[in-house]
Parts: sequence; C-alpha cells; structure tokens
Amino acid sequence: MRRKLAAGNWKMNGLCADLAEIEALAAAPAPTQTDRLICPPATLIARAARIAPGAIAIGGQECHAMNAGAHTGDISAPMLADAGASYVILGHSERRQDHMESDADVRAKARAAHEAGLTTLICVGETLAERDAANTLDIIGGQLSGSVPDHGTGENLVIAYEPIWAIGTGRTATPEQIGEVHDFIRARLERRFGAGVGRSVRLLYGGSVKPANADTIFAVSNVDGALVGGASLRAADFGAIIAAL
Ligand code: G3P
Repeated sequence: MRRKLAAGNWKMNGLCADLAEIEALAAAPAPTQTDRLICPPATLIARAARIAPGAIAIGGQECHAMNAGAHTGDISAPMLADAGASYVILGHSERRQDHMESDADVRAKARAAHEAGLTTLICVGETLAERDAANTLDIIGGQLSGSVPDHGTGENLVIAYEPIWAIGTGRTATPEQIGEVHDFIRARLERRFGAGVGRSVRLLYGGSVKPANADTIFAVSNVDGALVGGASLRAADFGAIIAAL
C-alpha cells in the first residue's frame, strides 16, 4: 500500500516571512495516509527543515551530480541532506528548458541524490506539440528510461507526470489523459524494476492542481498524490489539496 504524497514546489518564490505558511501547515492536524513535502528555494531549506521535522518533509528543487568541487552557484546532494532536506525534485521541465538539462544529466543527479540518502522526485512530461502529434507515451517512455537510474532505485523514487502545457496555465489534463500516462508509467516501472519496486514507486500528477480540481485528479488510477506549484504557496490552498488526498 503506497502512502500518498502531497508535494509543494515553491519554485523561485519565498522569503523568510513565507516560512509562516509551513508553520500554518504544521499546525493543521496531520493526515494519517499522506506525506507532506515542501520544496522551498534553497535559501530557506535549513530554516524550513527545523519547523516541523517528521511532520512536513523538506526538499530541494535541484542538485548537482557531483558531491563537491569548483561549481560556482551549484548545490550538491550531500549539502541538501546536510541542510535537512530528505527529497529533491529533479528534471523539472523548467530546469530541462532553462538550464538545458538532459535525461543523462537528470540520471546522474538522481544517482548522486540517492547516494546522499535523498528521495528523488523525477519529473517527466510532454509539450503540447508532442501531445498533438500523438507522441506523448513515446516522450514519457524516453524520459523514464533516460532519467531514472538503474541502480539503487526503490522506494527512494517518486515520478511526477507534469504535462508542460498544464504547468501554470490553469489548464489541467483530463482524468483520461492523466490515467493513460500514469498507467503507462506504472507498467514501465514494473517491467524495468520488477513488480515489487515498480509498484512501490509513487506517481504524482502536476500541472495547475488546485483545491477545486484535486478531488477529480486524485480519483484517477495510479495517482498517488500531486506536485503542486502555485497553489502550494499558501497553506490554506495546499491544506485543502492535502485534505482531498
Ligand atoms: O512542479 C509543479 C508544477 O510545475 C506545477 O505548477 O503552478 O501549475 O501547479 P502549477
């Protein structure tokens, strides 16, 4: 039985004052079946991790593939762990696009993150042009094969399906579209890693998840939670999404 996961990706948002939103989340009654995760900007990770250890997990939004060295401005997986993070988002479409991250880059980062004891939340998703050309499953399959490492992968892996055309646009994929991709991802993971590992990986949907559509999305098969952007910035909205899981 997989636990649910509600993950908030704050992206490049959040100042010290916004830590109050994590405090407000932590003050709400803890759900019994759902893990709660906030991935704030790196500047807030250490402080965020001290707010409610054990109740609200904290994650990074990216890490380097090397553990240390001459890489100005980068953050390594051991640094994230040292700051109190237990998860890291990798391969978000904004990173793939803005920083030219390839599947091979994501895979190398994931290996480093697993070695540092972090759970990786690896993002996959198609563009609208790819969907319109009926290439969605090929694209997702390629990203999965290329981005997910072979070794050391198990319950420390979460996959987030985020159709790029649904991110920050107010457009959500239909339940049928989400179900088709999530079932495909599950089947691919089971084929590659065996039923035990394949069934233990949690699959999140991301892309304009809001309190108003959360119920519908969470009713879809193989949806174990959500990766939420804009609606994770305020505890009231994120709390309502968590309650729907
Ligand atoms: O990683 C979360 C994300 O890309 C979705 O963002 O704002 O559409 O919920 P948003």
